[in-house]
Amino acid sequence: MLRSLLRTTKACGVQVNQRSVRLSSTKHGKVLTVETMHPLVKSVEYAVRGALPIRAEALSAQLKKDPSKLNFDKVVFCNIGNPQQLNQKPITFFRQVASLCENTELLKAENRELVSKLYPADAIARAELLLKNIGSIGAYTHSKGVPHIRENVAKFIERRDGYAADPENIFLTQGASEGIQKIIQMLTHNTKSGIMIPIPQYPLYSATLSLVDAAPVHYYLEEKEDWGLSRAELQKSVDEARNNGVNVCALVIINPGNPTGQCLSEENIREIIRFCHDERIVILADEVYQTNIYQPERRPFHSFKKVLQSMGPEFNEQELFSFHSTSKGMIGECGRRGGYFECVNIDPAIMDQINKISSISLCPNVHGQIMVDLVTNPPAEGDISHAQYKSEVDTIYQSLARRATKLAHCFNALEGVTCNEAEGAMYLFPKIDLPAKAIEAAKEAKMAPDMFYALSMLDHTGVCVVPGSGFGQEAGTYHFRSTFLPEEHLFDDFCGGLEKFHKSFLDKYRD
Ligand SMILES: Cc1ncc(COP(=O)(O)O)c(C=O)c1O
Repeated sequence: MLRSLLRTTKACGVQVNQRSVRLSSTKHGKVLTVETMHPLVKSVEYAVRGALPIRAEALSAQLKKDPSKLNFDKVVFCNIGNPQQLNQKPITFFRQVASLCENTELLKAENRELVSKLYPADAIARAELLLKNIGSIGAYTHSKGVPHIRENVAKFIERRDGYAADPENIFLTQGASEGIQKIIQMLTHNTKSGIMIPIPQYPLYSATLSLVDAAPVHYYLEEKEDWGLSRAELQKSVDEARNNGVNVCALVIINPGNPTGQCLSEENIREIIRFCHDERIVILADEVYQTNIYQPERRPFHSFKKVLQSMGPEFNEQELFSFHSTSKGMIGECGRRGGYFECVNIDPAIMDQINKISSISLCPNVHGQIMVDLVTNPPAEGDISHAQYKSEVDTIYQSLARRATKLAHCFNALEGVTCNEAEGAMYLFPKIDLPAKAIEAAKEAKMAPDMFYALSMLDHTGVCVVPGSGFGQEAGTYHFRSTFLPEEHLFDDFCGGLEKFHKSFLDKYRD
């Protein structure tokens, strides 16, 4: 960001040496305006929190003031994978430990008897262990994160993959987003620096590339092939970019996918690794949905780290960053902003640079770090809290799997709508065939056709989804993304409302 701010100061009409002159005209209104602000910031688009959610917030406020004006009694936010916003219950053990870490008075000897009645012994022991390693949770920690927690993350990766992980290669972050932004900033240096991103993609990637003024190099996921990807498509995309003078240095892969919900087969992952190896491309594996797997027999999750390690010494130099988060899975602790990334085969000098950059913001927040510890090291079999932990996680998982199937069926039953079932993640991305009259009406309203449809859905049903154009889609196709996170007991109503709306929309614009 800083780099691009300096590089483009000229373009936005603010010469560095004239900055004080240009920015000091307080007499005539604000110094900081959309004209004087950095143009790259202005150019960023972020659909998940864009125009539709803003309208949804306004409708929510209107419902509180005067519900009689609207045809629905609540706004359902299906625009963002934020489970606890839609009443998903937090995991009890995690909150017990977090609260004990916060209120250390409870751990004093004189309160022990009382606390033992409220908290299980393993939650008390975990909080004590964490506090012993953290000190006060109000203090800055190591900028890579608390060493003890990074050790636990390394053990989690070893258990998951069956290959060694070094805590020194792990950086704790404020959600996965912060790590992803940091690594993209490290990789790119000018408008010719290219990073391959999928289409459709999660807009964190396009937005971050806009901010650093680097080139997104799109590769398309194949809707008819369950949103899989082929080496031929990757090759076409990289060749085209390089022919246009773009220095393609990295490839983002989101697995399981957002917004598309696919989970890649091991063979497909090998193919992608071979491609990156042959083309000298760093892999950024966004694996935040690794436990949201709904067809575990057919499509289990394979981490890129595990597959890479299994490919033998020829691939020992292949660089990989793998990202994970406390926001997803069955946990959904989005607001705590916990995450980490693991660096695999990264040059030690670059590791020092990442460390330096991490130090600028001092440390990731400690509540998020505690949540990373809990997510990667939950109660084990034999622990007092294990049965409750397992039952809570299983209940959420089974409900998510049922909701995923139910919503896909609901979409597939709509005229002109086709929807792949979710293999993973928290979203469905149905394709809608919009009538020509609706496309015409959208043009008149100066809106993308899928935005027009999604806005109409929001106004008629209170359901807020994100138009496909916010993620990118093949030209001439229209989609929207919806989470399947609304509470299960609301699902019949929710699907009924969507069916009614869709039919009336088609009736209105039928050719
Ligand atoms: C694919 C993907 N990556 C990264 C993130 C960021 O997650 P967080 O920063 O909350 O860890 C999200 C959030 O929805 C996501 O869907």
